[in-house]
Amino acid sequence: MNTNRKKISLLAVALIMSILVLGVLIYFLVAGLPLPRNQYETQEGNELKIPSLLPDLNPDPNTADFVLDVQSGETNFLGNRQTKTLGYNGSYLGPVIRIRKGEKVHIQVNNHLDFSTTLHWHGLVVDGEQDGGPHQGIQPGESWDPAFTVDQDAATLWFHPHLMGETANQVYYGLAGLIYIDDENSEKLNLPKNYGIDDIPLIVQDRSFKRDGSFDYRTSMMGVVSGDTIMINGTVNPYLNVNKGNVRFRILNASNSKNFAFSLSDGSSLQQIASDGGFLEAPLERKSIFLAPGERVEVVVDFSKNVLSTVTLMSGNQSIMAINLAGTNTDATEVPDSLTTVMPIQLSDNPKTRVFDLQSMGISGTINGNAFDMDRIDEEVRLNESEVWVIRNSGGMMQSSGHPFHVHGTQFQVISRNGKIPPPQERGYKDTVFVNVGEEIAIRIRFTHPGIFMYHCHILEHEDNGMMGQFKVS
Ligand code: C2O
Ligand code: CU
Ligand code: CU
Repeated sequence: MNTNRKKISLLAVALIMSILVLGVLIYFLVAGLPLPRNQYETQEGNELKIPSLLPDLNPDPNTADFVLDVQSGETNFLGNRQTKTLGYNGSYLGPVIRIRKGEKVHIQVNNHLDFSTTLHWHGLVVDGEQDGGPHQGIQPGESWDPAFTVDQDAATLWFHPHLMGETANQVYYGLAGLIYIDDENSEKLNLPKNYGIDDIPLIVQDRSFKRDGSFDYRTSMMGVVSGDTIMINGTVNPYLNVNKGNVRFRILNASNSKNFAFSLSDGSSLQQIASDGGFLEAPLERKSIFLAPGERVEVVVDFSKNVLSTVTLMSGNQSIMAINLAGTNTDATEVPDSLTTVMPIQLSDNPKTRVFDLQSMGISGTINGNAFDMDRIDEEVRLNESEVWVIRNSGGMMQSSGHPFHVHGTQFQVISRNGKIPPPQERGYKDTVFVNVGEEIAIRIRFTHPGIFMYHCHILEHEDNGMMGQFKVS
């Protein structure tokens, strides 16, 4: 009798225990399942977040002192669930660093994470030691103090980590931000320039979520799984309220691997005024704008004659942001016919020519047959000497849809795309150029600052898995 009772209570305890264990298991299984979009994409949407402008702590107008705190945190993208994220001076993404041509800039980067990171200024023309590539690691609890003088024309650039093997992960979780360079010309042009009002940054990224709210970042041997949700400035399902008039958008594709083709739902055109490295010579009417990871464009849209009260920004046939138009047109800005003069990079009669063969296999890849090696310098380049670089995408097994080729420490010019003069949108300064399967791009390039720099595919998973090389300028 007694032993029977013991047996029964033992059984009951075992049963309760296994139910508990099962419950916990099921909880974790469900938490890890993908979260369907209709569970967080509400009808009314969320107002587009506008990144703050990073305060310059130095009162001298010719010198800027900035502080960036790299931190981890939680972000509420979904309304009823928190997501673990990384950010600069906040929980996701970072503030806009606004600097001026000729200005002396000093930035203190404090790493509050419990792992290493680096901070690279994508598109900025600086010495190798200030570039923030994989050689400038910032250990947990430590700081890095780059200083430089802004040595290029007005442009929209960006910043993100560049730690060997960890770039894709750290950017996915939120480490990215914009840099605006102003100059005399950009200040003089009568373009929209009220930050956050008629001059709007758009940091576009694809993401997926799990049921517990965490990011569902998945890659496979075959490549990268693209996210089902397009976020802008860390806003899911965004809407933006603007006045009827000219609105300038500075668009960055900050996705790890996804390409976008932006257009407007009413079929009206976007006037492209800038590419990666600054203004085009003249504005360009475009119905659709292709943007690969790392690339930027600036566009102006004239909403003054719109009859509809909402226009949607599209990528392909996916709606990515509702633009609500209000007010009357009191706008006095205009897009001038001439924006700047793009001086061609002068080449000698017999310029040094280098060829870069991009090959990928699923998620990994090589350049000229080599996977990246921190201890190998792939190319030696002479300071201030213009060269021709030819970039070829020779395909490969399990090939992805082309590689955005990026070079640090300079802005280059495209000479030809598949033997032909490049399309007008590629006739300004660029630092990232898309090379599709079978394509061959020639660029003229010159380095005015010494040091060790990277070139790589800006699909971050490719970069992390071998499609990167380094060169020394001296
Ligand atoms: Cu956007 Cu090597 O960087
Ligand atoms: Cu870069
Ligand atoms: Cu690639």
